Amino acid sequence: MTEVAKKVVVTGAAGQIAYSLLWRIANGDVYGKNVPVELELLEIPAATQAAEGVAMELLDSAFPLLRGINVTDSADKAFDGANAAFLVGAKPRGKGEERADLLAANGKIFGPQGKAINDHAADDIRVLVVGNPANTNALIAMHAAPDVPNERFNAMMRLDHNRALSQLATKLGRATTEFEQVVVWGNHSATQFPDITYATVGGEKVADLVDQDWYLNEFIPRVAKRGAEIIEVRGKSSAASAASAAIDHMHDWINGTEQWVSAAIPSDGSYGIPEGIIVGLPTVSRAGRWEVVQGLEVSDFQRERIDANVKELQEEREAVADLLK
Ligand code: NAD
Ligand code: LMR
Repeated sequence: MTEVAKKVVVTGAAGQIAYSLLWRIANGDVYGKNVPVELELLEIPAATQAAEGVAMELLDSAFPLLRGINVTDSADKAFDGANAAFLVGAKPRGKGEERADLLAANGKIFGPQGKAINDHAADDIRVLVVGNPANTNALIAMHAAPDVPNERFNAMMRLDHNRALSQLATKLGRATTEFEQVVVWGNHSATQFPDITYATVGGEKVADLVDQDWYLNEFIPRVAKRGAEIIEVRGKSSAASAASAAIDHMHDWINGTEQWVSAAIPSDGSYGIPEGIIVGLPTVSRAGRWEVVQGLEVSDFQRERIDANVKELQEEREAVADLLK
């Protein structure tokens, strides 16, 4: 077993996503079953006591890999020496709200946390923003951390990716693992574009197995609006599925995957998407870095959907211009 523990920060540690996420990290689901972990639970002062209770339960779970747990309301302390950070702590939306409606309340959380990451985190820090609106919050954190490479700031599109896989699996009576080359482009919002153009299952083209009407009028809106559907049915926003997707993202980022997955990463000009936003793209992970899948042909239909996401992300960026200075 490696002796040096990896330090993992979870913000919003007393919240509902963290209550699933922390157990998976402590179980070795991010770094692997041979790598010990130390957990930093960051909360606002009013919730540190509840986070202490979460820490007590984590201890009571007697995880073999867990080397320490610390609860704090100080971002500087939490991110000191951190190798990975899940920025979850933020207000969830309620029924009838869009995620972008949270920007005013949540945006200001991510500047100070980005700065604390900049000043205190380990050189290999990887940051996954989950708190909504995730793409633009990640942009805010990235801007506040000029000494950290931009590529270390991601936002989560993996829940959307997993939702797309599961809708396809249900429709075609296959396992989620049989699907390849599914992509969710864009923003973690209702504008996102779950795209089956390149997708295959067992060597067959998915687009040949489903009808266009189902794809356009059921699959795309269902995946794109699944968050709202969960809120409607469950009464609260998704939590365990969000935690599971966050684990999938960080695991693959660190350990690599040749399977295409959707990750929101800083745009690099690929597919005509201008730099300066954090956007969901088709990616693989090699040597600890996401690589955009290159060379895909993009139809007019796809272009229109992708452009709508770019426009929305640019508008969100404009709305938080004050936080990007
Ligand atoms: P929750 O209300 O249960 O928990 C949020 C926690 O964050 C609270 O305990 C709160 O005290 C804490 N918090 C608030 N400000 C903080 C700060 N500055 N520092 C540290 N902690 C802080 O919410 P939840 O259900 O866990 O959801 C958290 C966020 O994740 C929401 O914004 C939600 O919309 C978002 N979310 C995103 C995805 C995604 O796919 N990207 C999926 C599900 C939920
Ligand atoms: C989700 O997609 O489930 C989350 O972003 C929560 C929400 O507000 O939809």
